[in-house]
Amino acid sequence: MRVPLLDLVAQYQATKDVVMPAVTSVIERQQFIMGPEVGQLEQAIAGLCHTTHAIGCASGTDALLLPLKVLGLERGDEVITTAFTFFATAGTIHNAGGTPVFVDIEPGTFNILPDAIEAAITPRTRAIVVVHLFGQMAPMERILALAARHGLPVIEDACQAIGARRKIDGAWCLAGEPGWVGTFSFFPSKNLGGYGDAGMMVTQDDATAERLRRLRLHGGTRQYFHDEVGTNSRIDTLQAAVLLAKLPFLAQWSEERRKHATGYQAGLASVPQVITPATDPANEHIFHQYTLRAERRDELQAHLKSRDVGSAVYYPLALHLQPCFAHLGYRPGSLPVTEAATAQVLSLPVYPELSPAQQDWVIQSIREFYA
Ligand SMILES: Cc1ncc(COP(=O)(O)O)c(C=O)c1O
Repeated sequence: MRVPLLDLVAQYQATKDVVMPAVTSVIERQQFIMGPEVGQLEQAIAGLCHTTHAIGCASGTDALLLPLKVLGLERGDEVITTAFTFFATAGTIHNAGGTPVFVDIEPGTFNILPDAIEAAITPRTRAIVVVHLFGQMAPMERILALAARHGLPVIEDACQAIGARRKIDGAWCLAGEPGWVGTFSFFPSKNLGGYGDAGMMVTQDDATAERLRRLRLHGGTRQYFHDEVGTNSRIDTLQAAVLLAKLPFLAQWSEERRKHATGYQAGLASVPQVITPATDPANEHIFHQYTLRAERRDELQAHLKSRDVGSAVYYPLALHLQPCFAHLGYRPGSLPVTEAATAQVLSLPVYPELSPAQQDWVIQSIREFYA
């Protein structure tokens, strides 16, 4: 049986009746830049995230880069983050003029460790970038408390966590809601994916929102007048239209993903060679990825491939050991939990349209490998 890691064609078939008319409408109006769908999407995402502002931009990468630019980082300024994440989290710190400082993760959730953040703070620390990895939030209440003690802004890289939430002091808090700026990616494979690149920044702060709106439009709010040097990082009207049409499906898709996660947990409980992912009890996970730890991971992946089951290693080489960051001086052993994760993790198909028979096939194939 064929089980791809992700089946975007199935999603297209299920949604094309609402998505394609929205696309056609933009094309018929020929308003590709800053059409009304952009503002509508921004409003909808602000509503979803319980934030005052949402500002569309060209990608999740730019959604990280622009708030880092707002900070005006200077050579030697440090930004603390995790090394177990997609490259953009740290690449943008570098491109904004700062130095990424990598700290270790919690082994169950793969999220950044608050104590490790605090231990890494120096007089040069200017910000913290937290990643809500694979679709569950990091312990924001602890991170925000320590950030407040040190006067540091917190950027939430929520690119994998749209709609994820966490109970803080008895109330649900959405990914992107509590930090200084929250960032989202609408890369096609994300839980809410466009038909190309797109991103979004959310914030509660009026002045920050104004800066971000300016920076994505060459630093001006009026055409041909520039208060500062920004860039072209608008979200396409076409992408906004696609995302607006898909947004009403998101909650149900996340529910399906959670069901699949429960299915894997039950189906793999009797396989001691794999450790299924932990959900922090305070979190509602959206399972952008279902990532377990496996003995003989690479052999298991090859076995799954031979059974026509897609899987992926997110991430095979942690960021502190990437050649481009060699000058930062990290060595194998610098971040032991992160490095162990890179050697063990394997992400399984968890997309909403995964059928029970397909999931059974994945589980049987894993059991067969270790039998
Ligand atoms: C954690 C994380 N940060 C940042 C990004 C960058 O987003 P994009 O690919 O839209 O630039 C991604 C997604 O690819 C991501 O998963």
